[in-house]
Amino acid sequence: MRDLNEESITAEVLCAVGQAENPRIRQISESLVRHLHAFVREIEPSQAEWEFGVSFLTRVGQMCSETRQEFVLLSDTLGVSMLVDAINHRTADAATETTVFGPFFVETRPQLSLGDNISPGVPGVPLFVSGTVRGPDGAPLSALVDTWHSDDEGFYDVQVSDELKMRGSFRTDVDGRFWFWSVKPKYYPIPNDGPVGQMLEAQGRHPFRPEHVHFMIEAPGFQTLVTHVFIDGDPYLESDVVFGVKTSLVTRYRECQPGTAPDGTQMDRPYLVLDYDFILAEAAAQ
Ligand code: BEZ
Ligand code: FE
Repeated sequence: MRDLNEESITAEVLCAVGQAENPRIRQISESLVRHLHAFVREIEPSQAEWEFGVSFLTRVGQMCSETRQEFVLLSDTLGVSMLVDAINHRTADAATETTVFGPFFVETRPQLSLGDNISPGVPGVPLFVSGTVRGPDGAPLSALVDTWHSDDEGFYDVQVSDELKMRGSFRTDVDGRFWFWSVKPKYYPIPNDGPVGQMLEAQGRHPFRPEHVHFMIEAPGFQTLVTHVFIDGDPYLESDVVFGVKTSLVTRYRECQPGTAPDGTQMDRPYLVLDYDFILAEAAAQ
């Protein structure tokens, strides 16, 4: 292994990483080397460009903390998160489509009761959210429904305070139904004060995601569904910075005047209703 040059080096590196005993590690390592070397051959970086690339990835890593995952943002904004999601959800049955998880889920979210308000004291247009969770055969499921979304200025709770708001976990009733109150969210920029933000700027891209409400829905015997519901008419539906919009996930609010809301609450001001039904795919046989 001496005197390697532009032509011979790839085969030699492939030989070295091909010694991995674990076949999956061998496959991944070989593919990585093939694609990485092809990438470098295609772009022919100057030494300064190569150093910039190394420094960029270093800064992505340094930006990561308990509350900030810059590498996930990089994966999201390069379309890799949605590609991995698509590869892992190929089955074309009746199940609700999936989309990107995002960085704003919080494990310690409040466990709430059906009908609760997940955003007490948060300013904004009142929003009643409801729906059902069913299996592909239409049977209602006893499911855990997790939801989270931004406030009416496009910020998640964790970005502006220590208090958890605009998120919660609910158990569906015997008919597979769930409902809760909140406030209307808004489109927002993904965190763009780090290297991923600089990358977007250099690529001439905006950092926005269209207005949406996140859902993660779990039921025994079914695949966990990670998705959002988007709102028709949003200015960023066609240019989501993380490529996560699917037509089947886009719906409209029902605009309601003051009066009796679907859960019997007396509303003294206009409010919105977001109603969306979910279908979980059966878990893959073991
Ligand atoms: C989100 O929808 O919360 C999100 C997804 C990807 C990147 C940033 C935010
Ligand atoms: Fe989001």
